[in-house]
Amino acid sequence: MQKLFSHILQQDSFSKSDLVQMLSAKGNEQTLLFDKAAQIRTHYVGNKVYFRGLIELSNHCRKNCFYCGIRKGNNTTHRYVLNDEAVIEAARFAYTNRFGSIVLQAGELCSIRQTQRVERLLKQIKALSNGELGVTLSLGEQSKDTYQRWFDAGAHRYLLRIESSNLDLYRKIHPNNSLHAFERRLEALKDLQNVGYQVGTGVMIGLPFQTLDDLADDLRFIQSMDIDMVGMGPYIEHKDTPLYQYKDHLMSIEERYWLALRMVATLRIITKDINIAAVTALQAINPEGRNWAIRVGANVIMPNITPGIYRNIYKLYENKPTISQNDEDNTQTLINQIKTTGNEVALGEWGDSPHFKNKKT
Ligand code: 5AD
Ligand code: SF4
Repeated sequence: MQKLFSHILQQDSFSKSDLVQMLSAKGNEQTLLFDKAAQIRTHYVGNKVYFRGLIELSNHCRKNCFYCGIRKGNNTTHRYVLNDEAVIEAARFAYTNRFGSIVLQAGELCSIRQTQRVERLLKQIKALSNGELGVTLSLGEQSKDTYQRWFDAGAHRYLLRIESSNLDLYRKIHPNNSLHAFERRLEALKDLQNVGYQVGTGVMIGLPFQTLDDLADDLRFIQSMDIDMVGMGPYIEHKDTPLYQYKDHLMSIEERYWLALRMVATLRIITKDINIAAVTALQAINPEGRNWAIRVGANVIMPNITPGIYRNIYKLYENKPTISQNDEDNTQTLINQIKTTGNEVALGEWGDSPHFKNKKT
């Protein structure tokens, strides 16, 4: 027999079937879910929203994930690498505008050159900001030694999405070879935790073959791995990728959007004190997407501050939103929008995951 929805929301722990019910909530139940998530968020992490300025260093990638627009096998994409000056200029923009921290993201590249380059950039960014700008990395699977070097050079958070915690589904959306091994991804997440990073992961929502049971398992995976930060959003099909052939089997984009918001709300309810990002993939579907995510539990946003000419080339999926560096009004617009959600942008603060701090005490 199904439990009364309002009773589920009062529990402290949640069975898999509770999670599936939360993820399927519609109408009034969805409103209850969103309200509960907003309450928990205010209670455990407060009403502050932290900015992370996203700098996309390069869209070269050695991998061939079946869903991603910048996969190596996509030869219709124009490839670029930001030069060091452009990266430093973007970091300075973030620092001057009191973003608190930045994220350096790129496709997965593994070479001594890349390791040294990131190390050099980290040191320069720390120097230009008197150590004040926090730096998160999102540079894929690397050796533990590389993770350690980057940590020693000043990075303190790392994002590496598991994409799906279901081994079978993971294998369906990636090529079947050692470069794309699920086990390697898990090992990398553990290496990051052992080095001492605050570790972020996440999944895509509404993938072909994915069920609500899978998503409930993803939420439990995040919890069981003791993850500090999560970025997860709707899967958006990209025409130059192998997964595009399943486009007629997907949930509608609208359904994926609301399901992603219910994932955010449910995650907030079960994990309480982690950092959750309002991701750009939501914004790509609906201009109100990020605001909605903030209303239902997210407390981090990652405005794209990659210099102008490159910004539209880093295309994981279509329609990625950006803000203009030359137009500080845009930063102000974002700040104002967030106010309408009843929350406040915290400028000049790192906004570390309270979960990470709570773990250490
Ligand atoms: N739709 C949504 N998210 C995607 N990503 C890659 N391709 C897509 C897509 N088609 C996400 C992956 C990756 C992150 C950088 O972008 O989760 O980890
Ligand atoms: Fe490369 Fe990441 Fe895209 Fe996979 S998802 S192809 S690792 S950029």
